[in-house]
Amino acid sequence: MSQNPAVLITGASTGIGAIYAERFARRGHDLVLVARDVTRMEALAGRLRQETGVTIDILPADLTQASDLAKVEARLRDDARIGILVNNAGTAIGRTFVEQSVDEMTRLVALNATALVRLAGAIAPRLAEAGEGAIVNIGSVVGLVPEFGMTVYGATKAFVLFLSQGLAHELGPKGVYIQAVLPATTRTEIWDHVGADLDAMSNVMEVGDLVDAALVGFDRRELVTIPPLHDAGLWDAFDGARKAMLGKLVNALPAERYRRLG
Ligand SMILES: NC(=O)c1ccc[n+]([C@@H]2O[C@H](COP(=O)([O-])OP(=O)(O)OC[C@H]3O[C@@H](n4cnc5c(N)ncnc54)[C@H](OP(=O)(O)O)[C@@H]3O)[C@@H](O)[C@H]2O)c1
Repeated sequence: MSQNPAVLITGASTGIGAIYAERFARRGHDLVLVARDVTRMEALAGRLRQETGVTIDILPADLTQASDLAKVEARLRDDARIGILVNNAGTAIGRTFVEQSVDEMTRLVALNATALVRLAGAIAPRLAEAGEGAIVNIGSVVGLVPEFGMTVYGATKAFVLFLSQGLAHELGPKGVYIQAVLPATTRTEIWDHVGADLDAMSNVMEVGDLVDAALVGFDRRELVTIPPLHDAGLWDAFDGARKAMLGKLVNALPAERYRRLG
């Protein structure tokens, strides 16, 4: 793998993924852009080729479709120039759990969780073998906050966080860097898909600010990057509480409070 490996970015036609594409191109990385909208990706690639001179391939794929997903997996497995995967493609659905259809929920899980784990699974063995490379997974603060009421979306994002932590545990010692990025409300089209009016919301981050902050975390090789969280000590305390349970979670006998009296 070269010093400046190629980067495969999913969901690169707009929003956070398109900004990742721009930032990595400006850093001199060749790109492989993945999404469904070829016209948008062609326009982005044309501009970035002209401005940066990097090589950009477009790999159209609907990541909820097994055959399309298989094409992207094959590319990640076989193209040794790709050293960084940005698992960004994702969507959200509006309304409450009982109002959402099971088919909608299933498609959401397919894109936000299943595709992400399959793509990580396709590239991880090659990166582990090479002893280098990176996988960036875009989660969300929603995965930490069931109280937001975005239950299935949040569950997929909790999955992204856990997957990233587990991958870091397994692959970190082999030289592969894993990052989970947890944005909060960021100005992209995702909010149109849930039927929400961004202009009526407060504390909306601009997408360039989000990606630039995420890249600071990337350059520091941080495992969990939460750009909107100003007090990093809160994350450390949260993760510390989890780690305090280690060594106390596995016991032969049920805890005293679960033993029936008499
Ligand atoms: N914006 C926020 O407030 C926010 C907050 C927290 C986390 N996030 C996360 O950030 C990531 C990017 O979201 P965004 O805000 O940039 O959303 P976005 O503007 O809606 O962009 C989503 C991207 O994913 C692609 N995509 C959607 N469905 C796809 C499919 N079936 N197959 C392949 N690609 C697909 C879209 O391209 P095509 O339509 O061309 O396929 C697009 O490029 C997501 O994982 C999201 O959950 C966003």
